[in-house]
Parts: sequence; C-alpha cells; structure tokens
Amino acid sequence: MTIRPQRGLEKIQPYVPGKPISEVEREYGLHDVVKLASNENPFGVSPKALAAMRDVLADAYLYPDGASYDLRNALAKHFGFALDQVAVGNGADDVILHASMAYLDEGDEVVTSRSSFPIYDIYAHAMRATLIKTPLGPGHRIDLDAMARAVTPKTKLVFVCNPNNPTGTMSTSSELGRFLAATPDRVLVILDEAYAEMADSDEFPDGLAYVREGRENVLVLRTFSKVYGLAGIRIGYAFGHARTIAPMFKVKPAFTVNVLAQAAGIAALEDDEFVRFTVSENRKGRRFLREAFDRLGLEQAESHTNFILVRIGPKAVDVQHALLRRGIIVRPCVGYDLPDFLRISIGTEKQNERLVAALTDVLSA
Ligand SMILES: Cc1ncc(COP(=O)(O)O)c(C=O)c1O
Repeated sequence: MTIRPQRGLEKIQPYVPGKPISEVEREYGLHDVVKLASNENPFGVSPKALAAMRDVLADAYLYPDGASYDLRNALAKHFGFALDQVAVGNGADDVILHASMAYLDEGDEVVTSRSSFPIYDIYAHAMRATLIKTPLGPGHRIDLDAMARAVTPKTKLVFVCNPNNPTGTMSTSSELGRFLAATPDRVLVILDEAYAEMADSDEFPDGLAYVREGRENVLVLRTFSKVYGLAGIRIGYAFGHARTIAPMFKVKPAFTVNVLAQAAGIAALEDDEFVRFTVSENRKGRRFLREAFDRLGLEQAESHTNFILVRIGPKAVDVQHALLRRGIIVRPCVGYDLPDFLRISIGTEKQNERLVAALTDVLSA
C-alpha cells in the first residue's frame, strides 16, 4: 500500500531549477557551457567570503552555532537593527519556509502575484493555505493595487517580490506605500528583496524603512546568493519586528546555516569592493543586453535585476533548446505563466557577447 502524502502536496507544482552546467555538458557532449539561467553572480564568490571559508574549513567537524549569533549580529550591525530583529536560513528559500510554517494555518489565504517566485506557492500549499494570485499589470509589473484588493478577512500572508523574479520589474515607493497603507496590521507582508542591491532607480522603495519604523507586519527578505556570489553556500536573511521574527525561531531546524556559510556571510558583508564591482558590471551588462535585444526586435520587461525577461514568442522553448545545443543555458518561463518568454541572466561581458551571437544566429535560422 502506498502511504498518502499530506493533502497540500496535491496542489504543488515542483520547482524546476535552472539546468546545472554538468548536466548540459553530459547530455549535449559539450564543454565550456555558460549558465545564464539562475541569476547567479557571474563574477564568482566574494573574495573575502572565500578567504573566510578557507579559514574555517577545519572547524567543519563541529556543529555550527544554531543561533548563528555572529552572523546575525554582523547583519544587525550592518543594517542598523537589533539582534532579535534578524532571522537567517539556508538561503532565502529556507527563511520563506520558516515564515510560512510560523504563520500559516490551514485555510488561511496567501496573496501573491502571478508570474512571481514559485517557492511562495509551494510553501503556501504545503501549509494547506489557500493561494490567491493577482494578474500582472502593464509592462509585466506586479499590480500592487490588485493585490491590495485581493486581501480578505482570511488573508494571513502576502508575498511581494521587489524587484520581481522572473519579470525583473520593480514596484515603486509610492505603489508600495499605498499598498502597505491599505493592508491591515493582521496581514504579514513579506517583501522579498533578493535583488534589491541591483535595483537602480530613485523610485525603488526602502523596504527596511518600514521595519525601522517599528511596523510589525513587514518582513524584509534578502540573500547572499546574488551580489555576494554565495548561491552555492546558501544564506538568506530577514529583518522584522522582534515579535514577528520570534515565532520563526521556533520552527527553524536546529542547524540551518552551516559553519562555512556563517563565516562567509560575515566576511561578505565587509566586501564592499566586490559588491560595487558586481553592481556596476551588472549595470553595464544589462545595458548591453537591452540594446542587443532591442536590435533583435525583442520585447523586454524593464529590468532592475541581474536578469532580463524577453518575449521570444510561441517558439520560446525551441529557442531555449537551440541555445542549449550551443552551450548556453537560459530559463524557459512556462512554469511562470509566461510561455512566450525566456528569462536570461546577465553574465560577464564575454558571456553576454556569446549569448547575443548565439541568439542572433538561432533567431535568423
Ligand atoms: C525572488 C527570490 N527570492 C528568493 C530567492 C532564493 O534565494 P536563496 O538562494 O537565498 O534561497 C530567489 C532565488 O533565485 C529569488 O529569485
């Protein structure tokens, strides 16, 4: 007899990550494959984090500090919060799981946008909450007014991804301010700012200001996976009111951030030079790709991240496969409700040039 998994799982569409380089090399008999599919940092690991990890390798026989005291303290100091306002996890994904476990009861409603980060859906379903998704607005932007209208007396959690993955678009300060003003205090708003460092617009909201103001219903989520180049090490963090953070500590696994990760995170926070370099190279790469996609006549969403959403048309998946055969991995967006689009991460100058040459070739075939 098969043991029936819990009912929430019936609604879950499993998360499909970007294909690993090794898999594509194996399947296609290629080498020198470029991955522009998971919005990683194409410039590698923060050198300060790398050195710090080397220094603690020999401590790997010990369990890590379960409270991640030094890492949380470094984050608290760096961003100007108290220690009990900081949560950390094995990637931002893990922090989303802790918040979902801490706050969702069966039957609670979770509001999010269509074409946003799919992990929200997975944990909402796993907690047997009811998922409500609002359509995107013009320009493939999240429609925060529609999300505010979707809030009901049953709503417990709202996920706002800003800038949004996979569209790369951002919500402005005034849009977010209006949304938060309309949202009741009993609804927790998780502001997922995984790409915040890459948003360069004066209108990008300071989500942390809401936490500094003392609001209890805003949790701001960040990650070391992007600008710090630590996607493989897995560290995510969140800032919130101490009373909002405390329930998450009850459910987190005992040792969720490992020894290497804790050391890496502390050192990475000091690596301003690497962050500045990454942000400025990303800006150049974004401009280069935007211009190239314009020349190719491809519609694109306005990116405030290290990836660009491009409309290819009904052949998007064929184009994705043709790029794979040329050793370039990009992300199809069928699972994001955007079947005509590809999401392309911004790489190094060389990688971007290779992508443009291959895409030009594929589209003219
Ligand atoms: C919007 C968003 N949130 C969270 C995450 C998860 O980040 P992490 O690698 O810290 O789990 C990602 C990763 O791509 C993301 O795009």
